[in-house]
Amino acid sequence: PKPIILDGDPGLDDAIAWMFALASPAEVQVLGVCSVHGNVPLHRTSHNAGVILALAGEAGRTVPHYAGADRPLVREAMTAAAVHGDSGLPAADLPAPLREPEALHAALFMIEAIRAQPGEITLIATGPLTNVALAFRLAPDLPALVREVVWMGGSTAHGNRTPAAEFNALADPHAAHVVLTSGAQVRMVGLNLTMQCIATPDRLEALHALGNRAGAVCSELLTFYAGHYRARYGINGGALHDPVAVGAVICPELFTFRPMRVQVETQEGLNFGRTVCDLYGQPEPTDRVQVGMELNESAFFALLLERVGRLP
Ligand code: BDR
Ligand code: CA
Repeated sequence: PKPIILDGDPGLDDAIAWMFALASPAEVQVLGVCSVHGNVPLHRTSHNAGVILALAGEAGRTVPHYAGADRPLVREAMTAAAVHGDSGLPAADLPAPLREPEALHAALFMIEAIRAQPGEITLIATGPLTNVALAFRLAPDLPALVREVVWMGGSTAHGNRTPAAEFNALADPHAAHVVLTSGAQVRMVGLNLTMQCIATPDRLEALHALGNRAGAVCSELLTFYAGHYRARYGINGGALHDPVAVGAVICPELFTFRPMRVQVETQEGLNFGRTVCDLYGQPEPTDRVQVGMELNESAFFALLLERVGRLP
């Protein structure tokens, strides 16, 4: 299995993404989970990280958890409680957190872990990139030592939080700039890809019908989420943004990526946080960013369902 670090802001789709990874030990070995500010404030994403480890049962039992940045690098903090609820995990019957975060900051954990296995570790980031950017600035050797950063964020087209910007990009555009220009191999899993995969009512029913607690919790979270998607986008369920990013590592054969020049707007204004993707340009040899374009979404969902079914 590929050694991975999960970094995110759970957040209900982050939670499902982490469960997907924790339930896939043949493909990925989760070295640790890192929480960051984002959908809800850091103290909640950190609490939720412990809850997700508990939900994963045996698969989460020995996985350490590190809390990271409580705010973006430069801009003021923003949250997405309308999408994820005030707690970030809008489900009734959740277990207590398995454990408290370790004392080590998430960025320092990333540095230690990646230096210990040069060229091996995949970082899957499903929130604002603040922790990753801090690690890259503290340890300039890190971008060359990480195998790749797979980031749910940005878009080749429109945004979701604003017409121009996707939430994770907007929540820390400066951090996204640091990571995208770091020289690290980055695969961007943006809205243009993740909006292709919708948790429709029949899928919520299938998750519930698994008969385990993890399936019931996923179904309940996605039911809450669907309310927002119906009201805002007029579509019949929420997009599985963060699980798709984990899928890009667990089942890469279901995806197509294209090398592309991607720049993030860091000036405040109409396009603040926009990922400007040069769809028709020739990437420079130094550009190490690949952008997700297509996925076999029904095969992806079938795999996600099967994996959630393995959990308690
Ligand atoms: C992203 O923003 C968050 O609300 C979700 O968890 C996902 O990571 C989608 O734009
Ligand atoms: Ca997220």
